[in-house]
Amino acid sequence: MKQDVDPNLIVYFGEQFVPMREARIGILTHALHYGTGVFEGIRAYWDEAAHELYVMRPMAHFQRWKQNCGILHIDVPLLPKDLCGITAELSRRNAFHTDLYIRPLAYKSAERVGVAIDDQNAFFIAALPFGEYLHSDSGLHAGVSSWRRIDDNAIPPRAKICGAYVNSALASDDARRSGFDEAILLNESGHVTEGATCNLFMLRKGRLITPAASENVLEGITRESIIELAQAELGLETLERPVDRSELYVCDELFLTGTAVGLAPVVRVDHRPVADGAIGATTRRLRQLYFEATHGHLRAYRKWLLPVYGGQGAHKQSEAPLETSVA
Ligand SMILES: Cc1ncc(COP(=O)(O)O)c(C=O)c1O
Repeated sequence: MKQDVDPNLIVYFGEQFVPMREARIGILTHALHYGTGVFEGIRAYWDEAAHELYVMRPMAHFQRWKQNCGILHIDVPLLPKDLCGITAELSRRNAFHTDLYIRPLAYKSAERVGVAIDDQNAFFIAALPFGEYLHSDSGLHAGVSSWRRIDDNAIPPRAKICGAYVNSALASDDARRSGFDEAILLNESGHVTEGATCNLFMLRKGRLITPAASENVLEGITRESIIELAQAELGLETLERPVDRSELYVCDELFLTGTAVGLAPVVRVDHRPVADGAIGATTRRLRQLYFEATHGHLRAYRKWLLPVYGGQGAHKQSEAPLETSVA
């Protein structure tokens, strides 16, 4: 995520649109000290042919965000559909004609010392031009981390709680220093959970398999989208079950999914090739389908997309109303 950020970008902060350089928080802000914030990551994809910017599944993201904010007693005082409206307006005010990463963050905003949680909350939404997160065209080399995934009874990994990302940061940093592209974390039972910032799927004996939500993974929206695409387009059911570390060494295909990474093939794990070390056919097909769905090329999946410029291009929003629920 090493990209220079323009301080003149417009962000939504303090219930108004302001330049990023004016969006400031105090040094005693609770969330800065104790990690008491909940964030989201949303992508928007620019489609040159349609001359349209599509926000990917904003309703699902804002619904997940509001639900997970509840874990920290944070109330975001707007409906998901209003948050979608703000996001589209934010993109228009910045006149974005490029791929974006959108970062809503709600946090405990009291400026004082003391870990106890009170009712003072704030939130912002920032949107940044954003290209590839991991260069995964030729496949990644992933390494199983010595850092364990946090447990639901410590900091719930199903919510994108700011403080929980120390776990991802330690694993990701360690992986990169050791020459891997991404870390894979095990839970306290020794089962595979996910990558530092992405979910994990493997293909084994003709079945698509991903660790269940109860294994301490984030309930990824890309994961859910891939499960739907695999079922509807390839007739491939996904089995959600515990995954052993050594299954990664004997599986036929392996890939990671997430808002930032998209669908990233893994071709080596812990210095061992995945199957013959080439990107598998199912992975390739799903990656292509995900690209097409997120860029408005597949009519059946336009329900996932919010066109920022009103669908004046090739694909009109009215053809497919935006989905209204997560599942
Ligand atoms: C730990 C973790 N797992 C999985 C994901 C993928 O989730 P999603 O597809 O909703 O972006 C993310 C990214 O947000 C993440 O941070």
